[in-house]
Amino acid sequence: MTLLEQPEPDVVKVSILNEESIILGFHLTKFMLRDVISNIPSSNYVIITDENLPPIYLSKIKENFNKIASEITSAKDKKTPEPRLITYAVPSIRRAKTRDTKADIEDFLLSKTCARDTCILAMGGGVIGDLAGFVAATFMRGIPYVQIPTTLIAMVDSSIGGKTAVDTPHGKNLIGSFWQPKRIYIDLVFLETIPEREFNNGMAEVIKSAIISSEPNFINLENGVSSIREAVFSNPKRDVPFQGAILATRTPSQSLLLSVIMEATKFKAGIVTDDERDSGIRSLLNFGHTIGHAVEAILFPELLHGECISIGMIKEAEIARHHGHLNQVSVSRLYKVLQDYGLPVSLDEKKVKDLVGKKFCSVDKLMEIMKVDKKNQGDQKRIVMLSSIGNTYEKKATIVSDSVIRKILSPSIKILPVTSSSNNSSIHVTMTTPGSKSISNRALVLAALGNGTCRLKGLLYSDDTQVMMVALQKLKGAKFEWKNDGETLVVTGGGGNLQIPDDELYLGNAGTASRFLTSVCTLISVETANQKNSTILTGNARMKQRPIGPLVMALQENGSQIRYVENEGSLPIEITPSQNKFKGGKINLSASISSQYVTSILLSAPYASEPVTLCLIGDKVVSQPYIDMTIAMMESFGIKVERLEGNVYRIPQGKYTNPSEYVIESDASSATYPLAVAAITGITCTLPNIGSTSLQGDAAFAVKVLEPMGCTVTQTETSTTVQGPPIGSLRPLPNIDMETMTDAFLTASVLAAVASNNEEECITRITGIANQRVKECNRISAMVHELNKFGVIASELPDGIQIHGSKIQSLKGPVGGVKCYDDHRIAMSFSTLGCVVPDGTIIREKKCVEKTWPGWWDNLESKLGINTVGIDSGSHHDSIIFIGMRGVGKTTLGREVAKALDREFLDLDHHFEATLSTPIPKFIEEHGWDAFRDKESEILRSLLNTHASDYIIACGGGIVEHPASRELLKQYSQNHGEVVHIVRDMNDVIRYLNKDTSRPMLSEDLFNVWNRRKTLYNECSNVDVNTINTIGGMTVENIVEIIRKTRRTFFISLTFPDITPALKIMPTITHGVDAIELRVDLLSENGDMPSVEYIHDQLASLRRSSSLPIIFTIRSQSQGGKYPDTQETEYFNLLEQAIKNGCEYIDVEIHKSPKLIDNLIKMKGNTKIIASWHDIPGTMKWDGEEVRRRVRTAHNIGDIIKIVGRAKCLSDNFKLREFVEWQQQHIKKPVIAINMEVEGQLSRLLNQTLTPVTHPLLPSKAAPGQLSVNEIHKGLHLIGQLPKKKFYIFGNPIAHSMSPTLHNTGFEVLGLPHHYDLFESEDIEAVKPIIEDIEFGGASVTIPHKISIIPFLDQISEHSKLIGAVNTIIVTESETGRKLIGENTDWLGIYSSIKPLIEINSETIGLVIGGGGTSRAGIYALHQLGVHTIYLYNRTQAKIEELKNQFPKYGIVGLSSLSDERIKQKPPRIIVSTIPATSNIEIPYELFASGKGGVIVEMAYKPRRTQLLEKGAENGWIGVEGVQVLIEQGLCQFEEWTGRRAPRNIIEGNVHRKYNNS
Ligand SMILES: NC(=O)c1ccc[n+]([C@@H]2O[C@H](COP(=O)([O-])OP(=O)(O)OC[C@H]3O[C@@H](n4cnc5c(N)ncnc54)[C@H](O)[C@@H]3O)[C@@H](O)[C@H]2O)c1
Ligand SMILES: [Zn+2]
Repeated sequence: MTLLEQPEPDVVKVSILNEESIILGFHLTKFMLRDVISNIPSSNYVIITDENLPPIYLSKIKENFNKIASEITSAKDKKTPEPRLITYAVPSIRRAKTRDTKADIEDFLLSKTCARDTCILAMGGGVIGDLAGFVAATFMRGIPYVQIPTTLIAMVDSSIGGKTAVDTPHGKNLIGSFWQPKRIYIDLVFLETIPEREFNNGMAEVIKSAIISSEPNFINLENGVSSIREAVFSNPKRDVPFQGAILATRTPSQSLLLSVIMEATKFKAGIVTDDERDSGIRSLLNFGHTIGHAVEAILFPELLHGECISIGMIKEAEIARHHGHLNQVSVSRLYKVLQDYGLPVSLDEKKVKDLVGKKFCSVDKLMEIMKVDKKNQGDQKRIVMLSSIGNTYEKKATIVSDSVIRKILSPSIKILPVTSSSNNSSIHVTMTTPGSKSISNRALVLAALGNGTCRLKGLLYSDDTQVMMVALQKLKGAKFEWKNDGETLVVTGGGGNLQIPDDELYLGNAGTASRFLTSVCTLISVETANQKNSTILTGNARMKQRPIGPLVMALQENGSQIRYVENEGSLPIEITPSQNKFKGGKINLSASISSQYVTSILLSAPYASEPVTLCLIGDKVVSQPYIDMTIAMMESFGIKVERLEGNVYRIPQGKYTNPSEYVIESDASSATYPLAVAAITGITCTLPNIGSTSLQGDAAFAVKVLEPMGCTVTQTETSTTVQGPPIGSLRPLPNIDMETMTDAFLTASVLAAVASNNEEECITRITGIANQRVKECNRISAMVHELNKFGVIASELPDGIQIHGSKIQSLKGPVGGVKCYDDHRIAMSFSTLGCVVPDGTIIREKKCVEKTWPGWWDNLESKLGINTVGIDSGSHHDSIIFIGMRGVGKTTLGREVAKALDREFLDLDHHFEATLSTPIPKFIEEHGWDAFRDKESEILRSLLNTHASDYIIACGGGIVEHPASRELLKQYSQNHGEVVHIVRDMNDVIRYLNKDTSRPMLSEDLFNVWNRRKTLYNECSNVDVNTINTIGGMTVENIVEIIRKTRRTFFISLTFPDITPALKIMPTITHGVDAIELRVDLLSENGDMPSVEYIHDQLASLRRSSSLPIIFTIRSQSQGGKYPDTQETEYFNLLEQAIKNGCEYIDVEIHKSPKLIDNLIKMKGNTKIIASWHDIPGTMKWDGEEVRRRVRTAHNIGDIIKIVGRAKCLSDNFKLREFVEWQQQHIKKPVIAINMEVEGQLSRLLNQTLTPVTHPLLPSKAAPGQLSVNEIHKGLHLIGQLPKKKFYIFGNPIAHSMSPTLHNTGFEVLGLPHHYDLFESEDIEAVKPIIEDIEFGGASVTIPHKISIIPFLDQISEHSKLIGAVNTIIVTESETGRKLIGENTDWLGIYSSIKPLIEINSETIGLVIGGGGTSRAGIYALHQLGVHTIYLYNRTQAKIEELKNQFPKYGIVGLSSLSDERIKQKPPRIIVSTIPATSNIEIPYELFASGKGGVIVEMAYKPRRTQLLEKGAENGWIGVEGVQVLIEQGLCQFEEWTGRRAPRNIIEGNVHRKYNNS
């Protein structure tokens, strides 16, 4: 079918800005080309479109443009040259709405010599429309354009109104213009190829338009769900070419779709016409957007705009409901419509959670984002407030207070108690409670089948009623109209005249509706059959499993023609009308399963051809009260059922007569809550919609429970009034059987908890409620558990609960809040208790009340006068507070910890200044210190409310001076999170503070302040960084580690097909790296892809040859590797395997299936994920949108983010750095960002974390441009990022020292620019100028300076302090300046020499020979190794005593001789000798008498084999030579200085060579 055969379409035109320029229809291409060419004459027509769009659309246009153009131009005037058509498809990878993409289009236009006589055709979604529109607005100062929207969002929103824009890194749509298109062609055919989620996304805007402007349009959407979706998705057998183009071929569902979209465009066009520049009324379009945008700011791109708006609309509708502007029915209708169109309605939905992964919207964050909304008025937030379906409260957005928004958004709610002092007895509240579901459903059917009009009041809006209404309308059985803003449903009954509906009746999972309607459908008479001659009732998958067999069987036996379409006994069913419709007469029905079957037949029975006699058969009739309810209600509608005998009923023939008004009785269980609130708070409450004639069991609650407890109860037939006694004077009910009102036991239990009006034991025992163990949760045990949390004594009984009443004053709301077990009744009953509990009660998961009473919280507040506050607790972490002296580094540490724990950081001082908009010194100057401390305390209090989770809060040093603040901190540390006291050496603090003049000076001496505050800090904190080791579950050491590790890290990428032959060079190729990457995709097993076993073996070999962490990477082909993209399942299996094998890191490519990635995240345990993206085509720009999107996705997935681009020129590397630095201010996770190619090498130099490196010994580089560690260091030096440092050995004599060889070898191998020299001097003073030199990088310290050096240093490590000697100087540079730190690696050399050679247990004995400085290191090393008994031999006893005093707890046993008895009895297994080899001491053989062998560490290193080592060897002991210990301690030094692992094998080689030659 070629385009030219396209018929002249029937189009609809909508006018905007007083021109009919919006054209809607199906198959508009030809129409559009004609219109454009004739009416927007141009030399060039440029289609700007999107590579993603199915190519058929473009080819259709291209194919026919010339024909149409020549047709038109030749008809006009021979001289006019024919226009040309050019197309530009925005590459899908760069589809982003950015300035760059705009520039690309402009460059394209210029290159095609387009000038002013150019018309742009923007064909695509909103992205293309906004982008091309903006190009048109500025190209040659503005050229004409037309919009051809291809997504639903574009059709109803973005193409209309002339707003054009691009996004920038600072936000969306920030740069743009108003530029109206000449035409907007809305061709609904485009929707046929649109992904379902994109369609739903657009429906959010359609629903939004309807709900703010027109109830009829909204009803169309409510009723049209299946048709509208069919028109778009079912791809109907297009029997007719160009179906829908002309009216004659348009299906009803196509017409509906067209009208729905037309209405939405009309509405937007209308508003734009009134307010083109968005200054007033246009703000109405923002319904759902104030909150929706905030959600979007956090969850985009995982959630689409429309999905966020959908969630926003519900929340904003709830805000309107909270203010009393909107009723619950309207909120529910909105809820249902959104769900029906596949949109999310809550952030807690599983669907949403699956999409967004670990991202979440904390209320604080949402509030923060809303703060900068364009719509705000000053700092007040504005929200479009609905007043009913189709109307808004004001013709603009309405100001809403933060506390209300917070309340609605918060997952938890805090109930504040009423005060008993206020005169509650004078308060009288009247309120209606939600209607009974059973009565609502029955009333709807009765009124629909009846004659006349009936106003149903208080109908409960539910799935069942909604589905039933749609179905009854489709059966042409009745008309419905909501009145009084949804308070009343006006039903115009059809008197039982029904017709076969046009399509099947889809009932979702509405059980009651399906049962009731089955009988109703048998009432359709054969005459009404038109094209269709049967009715199909169907539902969702769950519905298709629910039973309906007994009912169908009874009807079939009675002559109705009902057929199961799929499974016997369940929907779908097909009902074909028979001659005399529902026959009637005697009907047998099994009633032991569901009373709904009975009700179904009863309700329809009067319309049967003969009077019905219904016999209920079976052992037992279930739920007789429900049958009685049906019969009673039928009577209200004029039909009196006669109960003959037992279970036989006679129903007369007739038609229902609709009463003019029917009030639906309240749900009796719901009614218990406000009545209980009256009982517990002492107010009076009247419910006008439930009274003494109620047939619901729970309706007896007032008389049977509240009255005996001391309330005054007054009932009429239809109303109930309860007045509570004064607060605290409810009486317990010793024993009460609640079998007839089991659902009300929870309400009774919370009242019993405070029923304690006298001194005796006040026990209430509730029984007969065993069934409550199998409700939403085990309610009995849940009640006991939660009551206990309040301090109430309660316990379970076999079929009930026993509660000891407590005095109200003694109750305490649980710190973590009441857990609701997703059970509405638990939430509502504990909120009742909360009305009196001192200090307030937090109810978690507040949304669980939605099941039966979504407006409960609003009612509790607005009707019952209980104050509530929104609380965002949920799954978040309590904030951590840092306290401590000024200058100890709370801010620095706080920021680092916040980063590490993924929290926000907040400085109380800053917050103070921001809140009061005044600097602290100024505040103090004006108001004095006392006022400052008061204010500070006040601000802390409010902060602990608003920022109670997910923050690290650093307080000012003096916060503990104020008693109220101390109390707050104490409370916080006891009940919530951690209050951490940060301690630092006061000398350091003073030195640091002296440099800082910006802070107010304290007049007192700082030491005095410290002495006074020390105890206060301790009193307020529960974590002390000096003593306890974890903050927020993270060890302090790790935190410090993170702070220190601003150094670079590298990993080597192994590119071997098989690593086993390469294992021997592993020590060399891993020089200087921090991890090893196994590129699994490059492995090859005999030329084939590696098997799982092969990979396993490779991993095992790697583990054996190196202790470095392993990064397990499978690089897919599309990401530049060798692994086939098609093998996704295998890909994930391998990664899972890697986790199981304990790989420290796995690389996960972010474009893989989100679901499988999610699984992986769940099981990853301690493995860290590197979430990677490689831009193989090289189209990603570091300043573009794509890279941001990739980072966002990677951020959700990984612990580390890895983004690899491709550099074309040097400046691409600068853009990369700029991007990374910008990102790192916002993202707390490390980012690996590099550019491939030689041009990208600079990015490899500059990358900080885990830069992939190569080594000359590898077969190939893993990626073009990869460098080695050596090259990177050299490069960094040359660009000034790694200055040369000078290192020394201080001591005398040192001429023969091995250390220069050791360190210089290391520097050279790693490409470090440093140099190590000897500095021989007897006088320690001589080192002063050296260590003060800015180039000084560190030093080894040896005899005789190991102790005398200490005064020259700023600080010495814990180890050195304990050993009392320093052998290494380390230089650190930080915010607080350059520091010289003394360390001791001697002990580490000894320690690491012994550790691998012997297993140590509590019996192991060590021996240290010698009493000098080195022996201290030996003793310390043995102690660190876990040796409990250390023999110490030295010639001078005084030395021994000195050391024993220095290490009193190390188990030192002094020996005066090596032949000591003790050695013979308990021989040592480790010997550390620290005396010179020349000191000829006698080595007795007893030393080796253990017979089990042992280890000797010889510290003397000339000669290589000392007498001790020789004798040991003869006795089978292992000897560690002095030179080896020297190397060990030197390697430790090297690593401390450079932050790099030393190239051990080469260093060892060189040192030994030098040693042998000397
Ligand atoms: N100017 C305005 O007043 C206004 C109003 C609302 C939204 N917007 C802007 O619109 C953009 C969102 O628009 P969108 O939702 O249309 O997104 P979009 O343009 O990104 O399109 C969504 C996806 O559907 C594909 N697609 C489009 N038409 C298709 C078709 N017929 N068949 C198959 N696939 C198709 C696209 O390639 C894309 O992948 C945002 O940039 C937003 O800021 C602007
Ligand atoms: Zn929108």
